Amino acid sequence: MKKRFLLIGAALLFFFHQKTNAQLRQTDKAWWKEAIVYQIYPRSFKDSNGDGIGDLKGIISKLDYIKSLGVNVVWLNPIYSSPNDDNGYDVSDYRNIMKDFGTMEDFDALLKGMHERGIKLVMDLVVNHSSDEHEWFKQSRSSRTSPYRNYYHWWDAERGKPAPRYSLFDVHHDAWRYDSLTNAYYLHYFSRKQPDLNWENPQLRKEVYDIMKFWADKGIDGFRLDAFQFAAKDTTFPPFPKGYEKNFVLYYAMGPHLHDYLKEMNKEVFSKYDVMSVAEGAGNSFQDAHDLVDADRKELNMAYAFEAVDLPKYPNGYSLLQLKKVFSKWDSAFAKKGWLSIFLANHDQARMVSRFGNDSPAFRELSSTMLTTFIMTMRGTPYYYNGDELGMTNIRFDKIEDYRDVSTLNEYKYQQSTGGNLQVFMEKMKFSCRDNGRTPFQWDNTANAGFTTGTPWISVNKNFTQINAAVEEKDPNSVLNYFRKIVQLRKQNLVLVYGKYTLVDAKNPSVYAYTRELDGKKMLIVLNFSTKEASFNAGNLQLNKARRLIGNYTAPSAAITRLRPYEAVVYSL
Ligand code: NOJ
Repeated sequence: MKKRFLLIGAALLFFFHQKTNAQLRQTDKAWWKEAIVYQIYPRSFKDSNGDGIGDLKGIISKLDYIKSLGVNVVWLNPIYSSPNDDNGYDVSDYRNIMKDFGTMEDFDALLKGMHERGIKLVMDLVVNHSSDEHEWFKQSRSSRTSPYRNYYHWWDAERGKPAPRYSLFDVHHDAWRYDSLTNAYYLHYFSRKQPDLNWENPQLRKEVYDIMKFWADKGIDGFRLDAFQFAAKDTTFPPFPKGYEKNFVLYYAMGPHLHDYLKEMNKEVFSKYDVMSVAEGAGNSFQDAHDLVDADRKELNMAYAFEAVDLPKYPNGYSLLQLKKVFSKWDSAFAKKGWLSIFLANHDQARMVSRFGNDSPAFRELSSTMLTTFIMTMRGTPYYYNGDELGMTNIRFDKIEDYRDVSTLNEYKYQQSTGGNLQVFMEKMKFSCRDNGRTPFQWDNTANAGFTTGTPWISVNKNFTQINAAVEEKDPNSVLNYFRKIVQLRKQNLVLVYGKYTLVDAKNPSVYAYTRELDGKKMLIVLNFSTKEASFNAGNLQLNKARRLIGNYTAPSAAITRLRPYEAVVYSL
């Protein structure tokens, strides 16, 4: 009898084990895998009241445009109250809306308007740090015995100077800021106005989960966890080896208990709502990335890995072979379990076409649409940055006064104070400064590109008279209308979402070709990353039945294996 029970038990265990494994398969469906995420940088999207700053009412006025793109998820950069040292990534009240952006009523109307149109909303959750103007920090710095003291990382000055920590945005790159009020240093990995929160403190963690529930109860559909890989720290703050700052992610990311915090967050918040979760940063290895997103660990759905987006450091500064290698190895590392985020740009990068493509008049449209084809045909959830659907380009400011980004302004001061070459720095910024990706959205060819009736907070790119939504709307072959078509193609073909990815002619330096396969369906994607005609070797692929589904040249090419400059084509095989 006992034996029989044991056998039944073992059979049940086997069954459940199989089921758990089955749940982990890449091809298992989920709305967030099928999502096409459109990222909106609210400050630069659309201003409704003439103060020169984009706002929620502005976004509401463009909901039909967003819907017309076909995207089904919007990720909004932070919209909470903030003194804007880092454009909202310094939150002073997590339950209120930034004055520049509007009110909570505007937010509710925005969410409603999105949901009515079948669009989900993902919010940015900035909880590695807060603003120094947050009430928690004000209390925390007020006295060593404040109940909020341990919400942040303090180092009493009697202990001597703490071991150095590198700050990304500080004028001296020093992450410890001395505060005379209590004779102690506080930690800030970003700017001095962004003190790091202490995740070791259970009370702080509870506050964060309550904030998340506040938004989830409003009905939002997901969270993007800003800089979260840095949230956990070794709070004994041991010294790091000399030169660690050149690779600070190795030392900062995935600190002690990070996975415990994520598991707790999952239990407290994610498991109770139908929300998606994505972390900025994926640690230092595939193992780190897997550990963040493997479904059976119950932490997150996705993470952003930076390896690909970090490739172009200067004009023509990356090779297609590198790009293929990076995307292919990440795909294969996630081929069975986990899920990837696919992106080539966001608000922390200069424009996609200026970094990865070619923004000269001859090739801007072709290379934009080619890159878009790539993003929309890879396995993983695509994250697409607003303005890229128009082929918006870098603005390339000449003067430091034109920049607004705290990291650029402080780095300039740092270079100045340490005798750096400012000319070299300014040239570098023309290519890589994130303000290039933050200039106002180009709606039409009226004043300020139709973004504002006032003075825009950052200059509008002068090319708005040619590159704008209104002009592109009318042209069936525009970058904008190509984006719409390829979004539909992805939505109608699950093979582009879940299908197996196989690289074709891997060593070809100009053409990126790959197939996607699912349930007997097969597609071939061919992308010419160069300004010249180029061919690829199709190996043993059967091309005789190939059908062209979309391409960025109006006329089909003479031969499938021969591509025109920046040509992109998707075939069904
Ligand atoms: C990453 C965000 O994407 C970036 O814009 C911000 O400056 C830092 N985290 C600090 O929050």
